[in-house]
Amino acid sequence: MFYTGAVGTAKTKGGLLESQKTLITLQINGERYEVAVTVNKTLLEILREDLDLTGTKHGCEVGECGTCTVLINDQPILSCLTLGVEIQGQKITTIEGLEQNGKLHPIQQAFIELQAAQCGYCTPGMLLSSKALLDENKNPSQDEIKEALSGNLCRCTGYWKIIEAVELTASRLGASKE
Ligand code: FES
Ligand code: FES
Repeated sequence: MFYTGAVGTAKTKGGLLESQKTLITLQINGERYEVAVTVNKTLLEILREDLDLTGTKHGCEVGECGTCTVLINDQPILSCLTLGVEIQGQKITTIEGLEQNGKLHPIQQAFIELQAAQCGYCTPGMLLSSKALLDENKNPSQDEIKEALSGNLCRCTGYWKIIEAVELTASRLGASKE
């Protein structure tokens, strides 16, 4: 896929002139995207503004809320603090890539069943951080779940349903391997 904006100069949000755009290649959810961006454009902005992958949410933009979490090489990172030009050739997973072949990931299913989301704004980041944890640790303790999700803030749920959903998913994934 190829996405481009007008190459040249334009005003940024801060009123400064943008430098010439650079063509970069990103691997997102198993697809290859080419997009023309300024070197200061964050992955969060690229996902939402250039690629229409708006499942990744825009929160504080300063690394404090975790709502912009995506996976790079299966590790959670904050897309608001990551420049697109830095991550070419790396494997990027957004919430749109969690479902496989029309089937929800088990962590998504557990969030639904346990009603671990209310407004849902934090949920994409929570799901991806939870997936990264479960990929590395099949049977996390409550403390390990809390630690893994400590960078993801939620204003609604009180966190317990989220923790229970991760525990339920771990138990199901464990059971499916027996
Ligand atoms: S939007 Fe990235 S941490 Fe808040
Ligand atoms: S469900 Fe609303 S912020 Fe978490």
